[in-house]
Parts: sequence; C-alpha cells; structure tokens
Amino acid sequence: MRRIDVGAIREDFPILSTRMNGKPLAYLDNAATSQKPRQVISAISEYYGRYNANIHRGIYKIAEEATEKYIESKSKLARMINAGSSREIIYTRNATESINLVALSWGEANIRRGDHILITEMEHHSNMVPWMVLARRKGAVLDYVRLGKDYNLEMGSLEKELSKNPKIMAFTHASNVLGTVNDARSITTKAHKAGALVLVDGAQSAPHMGVDVRGIGCDLFALSGHKMLGPTGIGALYGKEELLERMEPLLTGGDMIRSVTYESFEWNELPWKFEAGTPNIAGGIALGTAVDYINKVGIGRIRAHEESLTSYAIERMGRIKGVKIFGASDHDANGRAGIVSFAVDGIHPHDVSQIFDGEGIAIRAGHHCAMPLVTQLIKEPALSRMSFYLYNTEEEVDRAVAAIDKVKRTFKL
Ligand SMILES: Cc1ncc(COP(=O)(O)O)c(C=O)c1O
Repeated sequence: MRRIDVGAIREDFPILSTRMNGKPLAYLDNAATSQKPRQVISAISEYYGRYNANIHRGIYKIAEEATEKYIESKSKLARMINAGSSREIIYTRNATESINLVALSWGEANIRRGDHILITEMEHHSNMVPWMVLARRKGAVLDYVRLGKDYNLEMGSLEKELSKNPKIMAFTHASNVLGTVNDARSITTKAHKAGALVLVDGAQSAPHMGVDVRGIGCDLFALSGHKMLGPTGIGALYGKEELLERMEPLLTGGDMIRSVTYESFEWNELPWKFEAGTPNIAGGIALGTAVDYINKVGIGRIRAHEESLTSYAIERMGRIKGVKIFGASDHDANGRAGIVSFAVDGIHPHDVSQIFDGEGIAIRAGHHCAMPLVTQLIKEPALSRMSFYLYNTEEEVDRAVAAIDKVKRTFKL
C-alpha cells in the first residue's frame, strides 16, 4: 500500500501551520475532535456565501442546490460505511444525540420493567448514561460486559451477560481511552443470537478505519462528524431501514411529516421522519466534503499511517522509566486505534498536559468521559492521552517524548 503524503495533507489544514505558546502546534487530541481541511472550511462558507437557502422547501435554484448537496452528503456517508442507502442515514448533532435518539425512541417503546440492557465497562459516558437513565426510568437492569487482561472485553463475561437475553446491546467499536478495537462483527452475531438489538458506537472508528455496517450486521451505528474532519454540530445515526420504519421520531414538527390535518398527521418518509425542523444544512454539506477528503486519501491508508505512528509512540514511550501505557499491548489491525493513554508516575496528568501545552503540544488529560473505566477500573484519578490522525508525524511523537522528559525533569523524577 502506498503511504500517505503527510506533507501535502498538512498543507490542507490551516491550523497546522499556526503556533501555540510560541511553538509550532502539534495537535495530538484527535479523539476529542479532529482538525478541518480548507476544503471543509470552504464548503461551509460557500454554502452561506453562494447558495444559502432552506432545504426541501423552495422551488428555486439555490434552494434546490442546497437540498441536492445535503442529500448527496448522506449518500456519500452511506457509501463510506456501506449502509443500504441514504434513507438509513439520520443526521443528528453528534454521536451522543444519535445514541440518545435510540435510547429515548426505541427504548421508550420497547424496554419494560425487568428487561436487561447490555453495555460494556469501556463505554464513553455517551454510551452509558442514556442507558442508565432508560433503565432507571423503566425499572430495567443495566448489565456490563467486564474487562479482563489489558482491559479487553472478557468473552466469558459477554457470554454470561448475553445468556440473560438483553433487549439491546450497545458497545463501542473503538475505545477512546484504551484504543481497543472490538470485533464488532463477532459481538454483533453473538448478541443477535441472544435476541438483542445491536447498537455500535462508532465515534472513534468511523474516522479512522474502514467501517462496513452491513458487514458488521449491527442494527444501529452512531458517529460524530467533527471527529472525522467535519464541522461540529453534525453527526449521524445509521439504522436498518425496517427498524427505522418501526421507530417513532423523537422530535416532531416541520419537515418530518408528510401531511397534517387539524385532526391528524402522517410521518414523512425516511430519513426525514427523524429530522424535525431546519437541520444543520451547512454542517451536513461540509460533512459530505469531509467524506470526500477521507476517500481521496483512502481510509485504509489513514489506518496504516495511524498504526505506524501508534507503534512508534508505544515503542518510544515504552522505553521511558516511570511511564505506563494503558490498553492492548499489541497494536495490529484488530488491536489498537491511534490512541495512547498514559500516566507518568507521581505526576498528575493536568501537570503533564500543562507542560505539553508550553511545548506547543495539545494532548488531553482527564477521565476522557469514561469516568468509571479510568477511576474505578484503571484506578487513576485521570490519564494523559495522545491520539493521532492522518496529518500527524513521527516528529510530533518525538516532541511528545521530549516533553515527557521535560515533565520528569521539572518534577525532578
Ligand atoms: C467512544 C465515544 N463515543 C461517543 C463519543 C461522543 O461523541 P460526541 O461528543 O461527538 O457526541 C465520544 C467522544 O469523545 C467517544 O470517544
């Protein structure tokens, strides 16, 4: 496979030539949000500057163009994750909203007292709290697949929890803390055999690796546009058409109805049934441009680049005394996403992050919205995290390694 041309890619991202605290910006917080190429930034200003109009309504040229581009972006995303069609792509604000939509709509109609809901111990709060709230409201039971060695999902625990025949299983494709990539297809097959509906949280997988929702076989798949080169405020929920047809919309009002009389109404067809009111038109269109950009570079090549950077980072950081890396120790295709969470012995991650900041390096420090995993299982108050994307370089990893040395020197370790 031809390697990606990181130098050329970096030219497309205006922010990467800026400085932070007087140093060239090394942006290593991609699991939180990605940077945006100028093509995506231009798509937004082009929409507002040249053809801003509401969609589905106006019978005039610019309204038609806006509608066409918005729909086209759904087709692009559908192709990227191998959905059956754009009817299966609902635009939301982010992965969090996509998951909440399912918990509130499907959950409201299908979860009863005593039912089991299954998630895992490695979930982001976005794929945990909506199920906790649903379970509490309905008197249902929320179960967790336990983590074992290297904090990987324990298959024995999965079998045990599935034997309780949960109504739904929701799990992350790739962990935002550990970088673990779960075998979504095999878990989905097992969960389906147990009679569960399956939702995959793809917030950390869709931007970084080839996703094939029909290959996985999942019923629902959630993602965020801003983590995959798109703008904030746009995300998506994929759902199998026959399931979405059966689900009730969460929000109601304009655009999501086919007809209304004073007495009654009829839902619009998919996916519009789930998009009440004027949507994030610019965001949707720009997400389509982000998908184009990823396709142009090639998702397989992006994955290979991140794997190589991750191996390099683990190898270099692994040699530093007092640094502990969390998560799967292997990092092959089924091993680890481009995420490296670490702790420096005796130093709080906020202090680590502050010294990195002074060096122009953006990393994340905290519980990474997975508080139970970090504080109860890993038993750290917080972790530092580097996360990579297509524009990161080995030189940036070298700078991070040097920053860790500086942390140790500063704290005289
Ligand atoms: C695994 C995972 N799921 C869900 C989310 C939520 O994404 P958003 O904040 O865009 O809704 C994140 C964000 O970090 C994540 O890493």
